[in-house]
Formats: sequence, structure tokens, C-alpha cells
Amino acid sequence: ADEPLVLGIETSCDETGVGIVRGHTLLADAVASSVDTHARFGGVVPEIASRAHLEAMVPTIERALKEAGVAASDLDGIAVTAGPGLAGALLVGVSAAKAYAYALGKPLYGVNHLASHICVDQLEHGALPEPTMALLVSGGHSSLLLAPDITADVRPLGSTIDDAAGEAFDKVARVLNLGFPGGPVIDRYAKQGDPDAIAFPRGLTGPRDAPYDFSFSGLKTAVARWIEAKRNAGEEVPVAHVAASFQEAVTDVLTRKAIRACRDEGVDHLMIGGGVAANSRLRAMAEERCAAAGITLRVPRPKLCTDNGAMVAALGAEMVARNRAASAWDLPADSSLP
Ligand code: KG4
Ligand code: ZN
Repeated sequence: ADEPLVLGIETSCDETGVGIVRGHTLLADAVASSVDTHARFGGVVPEIASRAHLEAMVPTIERALKEAGVAASDLDGIAVTAGPGLAGALLVGVSAAKAYAYALGKPLYGVNHLASHICVDQLEHGALPEPTMALLVSGGHSSLLLAPDITADVRPLGSTIDDAAGEAFDKVARVLNLGFPGGPVIDRYAKQGDPDAIAFPRGLTGPRDAPYDFSFSGLKTAVARWIEAKRNAGEEVPVAHVAASFQEAVTDVLTRKAIRACRDEGVDHLMIGGGVAANSRLRAMAEERCAAAGITLRVPRPKLCTDNGAMVAALGAEMVARNRAASAWDLPADSSLP
């Protein structure tokens, strides 16, 4: 039997992503980003994102179909991010998916953005074991999720109580005047710095703290204060040391809690996804600590970690393969989907 051929649309934040997969095989991954337009505001501006999605939507769908070399009429379904995300941005993708699905006579599958960040790893490493433990770290979320069934049962074990991990990277980069988005720049500077140069706090790691929740706002403030003190004293800020020490604090907590969750739940596979999973130190540290704990680590290549349409298509294909019910034509774009 042929594996399902599915087109996926992602518009929850600032990337207009359209991907096409056949089962676990990636055929096309077209992304148009409005990140440069947002850069001068130091963050994503929702109204600008929605307008950019509207302009990029149809050309990106056409580019993906061309890249995959498939006809729209051959698709087995159209999947789309239904939430969570920016309301206006989601609405553009959901409306486009409905229009194409209805016009082509194909089933529509509304999917959860976080579940598709996990499912995308099937395009890299094949079928996900069940259950899978997932650490999702991006600009909008930092969560530990237990997924007994990626299409129907994904359970949140814990999440950040304040800033997301990527948000902390972006805010620290802003204090250091390194531009937006901050993650990739800090990652680069950190390579020249000493991760033990400055002892920054590890949030929520006390014995009485929630074992799977995260907090990065205190760390961000500690870094900002440290920099301010240097500047006030008229001393030069050692950017590389600050970047490396801050990055060490974030990745230390993320990997420690993820491995603890695996141990507690008896899961021997850890998947890491979301934009921060592109971080080189997080990948290296997770590899080292998972190996020591006897846990198999699965991290997709960086391009599949950041928002894209292929991850939506991957989850859509899994839903088709498992005969999950298609969504109704009144599928809502739900910005606060859990
Ligand atoms: O998943 P994503 O593309 O979009 C959201 O859903 O948020 O993640 C974007 C986030 C940004 O905060 C960005 O700074 C961060 O991922 N990021 C990184 C790296 N590359 C992207 N953070 C740390 N190190 C990186 N190499
Ligand atoms: Zn995301």
C-alpha cells in the first residue's frame, strides 16, 4: 500500500511554511519568513505577520508542489496548524487549507503545533517509539511532553512558568545589543566563551520545586543585572563569557529535567524539538547526558526544528495512516489550543 501523500501548512508565528511528505519521507519544505521585517521591532509583530502570511501563502504552496514534483490532485489530505499561535496568523493558514481542501475534494486535518514539532522527527529518524518523551523549546513554549500516541494523546508534564527558553535567548541578546532573533547569535558567541566564567542561577531546581516546570525569567534578570554592574563600573562586558555562561545555565536545566522525566516515566527515548533545539550546546550536552543515562536521543536537523510546514504534513500523514477522522469545515483557528 502507498504511504499517505500530505501537504501541510504552518502559519502560527512568523514563518509561512508549506511542506509535502509521503509517509516518513520529506518531499518539499518551502518556508517564507517575515523575520527580517520583525527584526527592527525586536520581536514578532502579530499584524505584520498576518499580512506577510497572506502575501506568501499561495506562492509558497505552489513552490512546495513544484519542489515535490506532485500534482495537488494526488494528495491524500491537507493538514494545517489549528493552534496554538497568533490568532490572525493561524487564521490565514486555516483559511487557505480549507479553500484548497474543499476545492480539491481532499480531507482537511487540523493539527496541534506542539504535536507536529514532535512528529517531524519521523522524517529524520523514522517511526517514533511509543511513548516518546519530548522536550519542546522555542520562542513561544518550553514544555516536557509525554506522547503515548502522537495523533491523539500528548500529555504535558510541565512547562515554563514565565519566559520560554527561546524568549530568554532573545532577551539576553537584546541586552547585549546582538539583534533578533538572539538564539543563533548567542550560540555563535558562546563558542568563544567559558561556560563556567559566571555562575548564573538555575531556576526551579530546588528540592521543593516542581520537577518538570521551567523558569527563565530570573536567569534573564540575573544576566541583565550582571551586565549592568559591569557597565556601571566602566568595565568592558565579556560578551562571549556571558553568552556561554547564560547558555550553559539554560541547557543544564533543560537536559537535567528532560532526563529526569524519562527516568520517572520509564521512557528510554528523548526527542528534542522547537527552535532552541538548533542550539549546538544543547545538542552536545543532551547527547552526552542521554548516553550516560542509557536514553536514545532524537533531534531533527535544525531546519526541521524551527517552524516549518513539513512538520504539519508529517503529523497529517500519521493521521491518515491511522485512519483518524478528518476535521469539519468549520475547524476553528484556536490561538489558545493547549
Ligand atoms: O520554533 P521557532 O522557530 O518558533 C517558535 O515557535 O517560537 O523558535 C524560535 C526561537 C527563537 O527564540 C530563537 O532565538 C531560538 O528559537 N533559536 C535558538 C537557536 N536558533 C533559534 N536558540 C538558541 N540557539 C540557537 N541556535
Ligand atoms: Zn514552533
